[in-house]
Amino acid sequence: MSSTSHLTDEDALHDRAFFGQPRGLSTLFFVELWERFSYYGMRAILLYFLIDTAENGGLGLTESNGTAVVSIYGSMVYLLSILGGFAADRVIGARRSVLYGGMVIMAGHVLLALPPEAAAWSGIVLVAIGTGLLKPNVSSMVGELYATHDRRRDAGFSIFYMAVNVGALVSPFVVGWLRDRWGYHAGFSAAAVGMAIALVFYFTGRKHLRGAGDDVPNPLSSRDRARLPLFGIGAVVALAVLIMITGLWRDTFLLQVIDAITILSLGAPVVYFAVMFRSPKVTSRERTHLAAYLPLWIGAMLFWMIAEQAAGKMALFAQQNTVTSVGGIDVDPEWFQSVGPLTIILLAPVFGWIWTRRAGRFPSTAAKFAIGVTMAGLSALFMSWAFATFTDNTAPVTVLITAFVILTIGELCLSPVGLSATTRLAPVAFMSQSLALWYLASAAGQAIAAQLISAMGSLGNSTYYLVNGVMTLGFAVALTALTPWIRGKMKDTE
Ligand code: PHE
Repeated sequence: MSSTSHLTDEDALHDRAFFGQPRGLSTLFFVELWERFSYYGMRAILLYFLIDTAENGGLGLTESNGTAVVSIYGSMVYLLSILGGFAADRVIGARRSVLYGGMVIMAGHVLLALPPEAAAWSGIVLVAIGTGLLKPNVSSMVGELYATHDRRRDAGFSIFYMAVNVGALVSPFVVGWLRDRWGYHAGFSAAAVGMAIALVFYFTGRKHLRGAGDDVPNPLSSRDRARLPLFGIGAVVALAVLIMITGLWRDTFLLQVIDAITILSLGAPVVYFAVMFRSPKVTSRERTHLAAYLPLWIGAMLFWMIAEQAAGKMALFAQQNTVTSVGGIDVDPEWFQSVGPLTIILLAPVFGWIWTRRAGRFPSTAAKFAIGVTMAGLSALFMSWAFATFTDNTAPVTVLITAFVILTIGELCLSPVGLSATTRLAPVAFMSQSLALWYLASAAGQAIAAQLISAMGSLGNSTYYLVNGVMTLGFAVALTALTPWIRGKMKDTE
């Protein structure tokens, strides 16, 4: 994430064309905006599509299987960021990874816009692969726009996070409206158009990137490069074998796939941490930082376990437990997907201001994580109460809005802080992997959610949330108790 060879530090410091930020940020801003528009637009109707009957154009899964698929799907998307990191770091560089990723995503949304069931499943897989290639690399290219000590870097990332949320705010309205009139495939086609717009911005804005992401930082030897197709085939075969093995305890293909992805999503971070802790390239000081990072990472995992139910259990609540019209106006269930992004857009500047004013005092990074995890736990308990209280479309819209606001305040404490803590606490030798490790917190959290959902299918949503809330609040208490210890171990990085 240092400055690139194409761009002198002097040039970079004088480029202030986009809100005082380098011109290239506007390119990446709009690419991310439209990519997230397509991702969250698709995710806003995915559950409804999965559980709707075939006559209505859905895939007819049970509620429990549909929600588990939404979770495991999110898990797969962020798990594949390992692949994206590898492609950028060792094979084609970040800029081309984003380009190819974008094309694959668009092809995926086009397939989702077509009626056959097989097209839908292939589309879902393509969107996941493409997002894995695109998402981590577009963020690392943001870092490359700045010279190493450019003070604007953090502000640049904040502006970039706005792009995520503007895209996520707008698309549920568009996709919901299309779904309401012409059905699911029309909704998915909006995602395809969004991604096409992202690609146009990427093509036309390329010159402003001034070489960011062009380099392959750590290229494979030509021998390994030649073996790449073989590795690819090997990976697919290994996945197939893993899915077969899960057949020893599962009796449907869907549950086998869910278990296979769960094993990978939980196994990958264990391997990452174990390798980092034991690597001779890691100094003892870095090992201390890593020890401090581990509980933060677990907190993030639990946070995303609950937060990513936005498009799962919370979407179910929007459709089945919340009133369908207010004052004569029909409320699309998709609209609730916009509450989180809107809260972020409104409150991010406020939180940024508070953190700057209180720099060096409470809350420390660890305390912010503890607050974030606590908020997620509280929102889960609130959802538990809501599911028990309002059945059959009786909940006023304020119920779900409240749950989203509580959760999103937690996100504001944890997510932006987590990204910068990850890059500060990662051992230097593993820097390029650190972003993938951060995304794995979301992959692992959603894998756990998928498992809990399929294990507790018959117990009901209120119980599901009660278990999530108690588990998460329990960990939040532990994290709070650990805060002084963590702060001590990471003091030299703050
Ligand atoms: N809303 C965030 C985004 O889409 C959620 C997220 C956080 C995803 C961290 C991945 C990693 O970018």
